Amino acid sequence: MNTLPQQAEIGEIPVNWCNADAVTSSVMEAVSFVTPVLEVFFIRTVAEGIRTRQDGELVQRCQEFIHEESNHSVVHKRFNATLLGHLGKHPPGLAMISALLDSARKHLSLSKRLALAAALEHFAAVISKLYISHDPRLTFESAFAKELFDMHAREELAHRCVVFDLWRAHGAGGRVARIVTIGVASLAAAMYVGIAVPWILHQKTGRNFAQTLAGLGGFVAKNLTDMLTHTPIVELLSFVRRDFHPKFLVDDSLIPAAR
Ligand SMILES: [Fe+2]
Ligand SMILES: [Fe+2]
Repeated sequence: MNTLPQQAEIGEIPVNWCNADAVTSSVMEAVSFVTPVLEVFFIRTVAEGIRTRQDGELVQRCQEFIHEESNHSVVHKRFNATLLGHLGKHPPGLAMISALLDSARKHLSLSKRLALAAALEHFAAVISKLYISHDPRLTFESAFAKELFDMHAREELAHRCVVFDLWRAHGAGGRVARIVTIGVASLAAAMYVGIAVPWILHQKTGRNFAQTLAGLGGFVAKNLTDMLTHTPIVELLSFVRRDFHPKFLVDDSLIPAAR
């Protein structure tokens, strides 16, 4: 099992460290900040899900999953602490995601929480697949950030079936449950990105509204065709299909090996 380097030196992180572009760097930072919040939910849900399971192979996969997600969280938290040096505080929207997941923990059954974790892990796998396909076009001015995002994407793709299989072992819900789950998860994700990315960008421009708006407008104008043609909406929504299984998302032999 590959794993992220917990002790690797982070070094200097330039303000626009990805593609030398403020918007791209803001998107990556929004993802990095939300990662530990989501992963603690996955870890607790999976740990509860295996308490009553007898299937040794599935339990072992879940334990490896917990180990990997814990490690991702540790390394992202270190990276995020460095980012906070530039930003001053966590982006707004993060508290909303945290509150939603706390509420899910308190009010939803284990099966529904596994459904939510499986849907979010599916999002993580689709985004990781997209990231890996874009990797040759991304330039990083931080070796640590590149290693962090590369390895995280590989590991997310490699363990993409674990939570789904655990959910199925608990009697996965029907189509309506899947539609509601993916709908709620998509809405929360869109709200978070819509709040956090402009806020991070605003900090990067020295809180200059004109530069923030120009940055967002320029990014959309430059990438509109790519966004319209390459956003994997069909793949994201494939979760609601009756015959869906995350193993079909990618050929495992095509996941890049660790360098
Ligand atoms: Fe992860
Ligand atoms: Fe994951």
